[in-house]
Amino acid sequence: MKMRLLSVILLHGVCVLHLSALTVSAVSLSVAPNSTTFFTGSGLSVLTCDDDNGKTVDGWTVKRTRGGRTEMCGAAAGFVLKNSQCQLMLDKATDGAYFCESSSGQRSDEVNIIVSAGSLILDIPSSPVWTGSNVTLLCQSRDGKQGNSDFYKSVERIGFDPEGKWILINVQKSDEGLYSCSAGVDKKSPEFRLTVRDPPADPPPNVKSSSSYYP
Ligand SMILES: *[C@@H]1O[C@H](CO)[C@@H](O)[C@H](O)[C@H]1NC(C)=O
Ligand SMILES: *[C@@H]1O[C@H](CO)[C@@H](O)[C@H](O)[C@H]1NC(C)=O
Repeated sequence: MKMRLLSVILLHGVCVLHLSALTVSAVSLSVAPNSTTFFTGSGLSVLTCDDDNGKTVDGWTVKRTRGGRTEMCGAAAGFVLKNSQCQLMLDKATDGAYFCESSSGQRSDEVNIIVSAGSLILDIPSSPVWTGSNVTLLCQSRDGKQGNSDFYKSVERIGFDPEGKWILINVQKSDEGLYSCSAGVDKKSPEFRLTVRDPPADPPPNVKSSSSYYP
């Protein structure tokens, strides 16, 4: 009888552990407004650690890695805590990899955020995209207009669109790299990195390393 009670308690404990592990894997960094490339002078963006349902979770801290250094929100200029909300000031050009970290050291996926002082940005998903998905690249100018744009992968021109929109169909690992766009003769965006990953539901056979999620 005692043994049985013990095993029920143990089972219960295992369930709770399992549940919390599931919850943890679902925490992600949300950026509002929902974009990851901004022009300087466009105010601020709010960074939160949210669960799958978009609810902000307690006990997670927003951090970033920039120039090889990891900083906590609130401990750097322009990366401030206000009313216990993490705000990124979009006043200076900067780029970094942002993520959420729990008190026990678990980390969400990284989100690259770029604040550009230039006149053109390429809006590209900065969190990893799944193999086989379609990815939309938008070439946007500071004045809000989208027009005749050339698209590049590194130095290679991959296409032209009169409305500043280019779709990569059925992306593969080989599509990873640095993308940029240009409009007119002298306007060129900075390069933005596209990362492609295999969907978690369909892992490659015999590979079971979670390190593939943090290359
Ligand atoms: C934010 O944008 C991403 C990529 O465009 C999209 O997958 C996601 O659903 C958006 N989230 C919200 C809350 O609109
Ligand atoms: C990607 O775009 C192609 C062509 O428009 C379409 O046939 C395909 O269903 C799309 N794939 C996904 C995953 O949306």
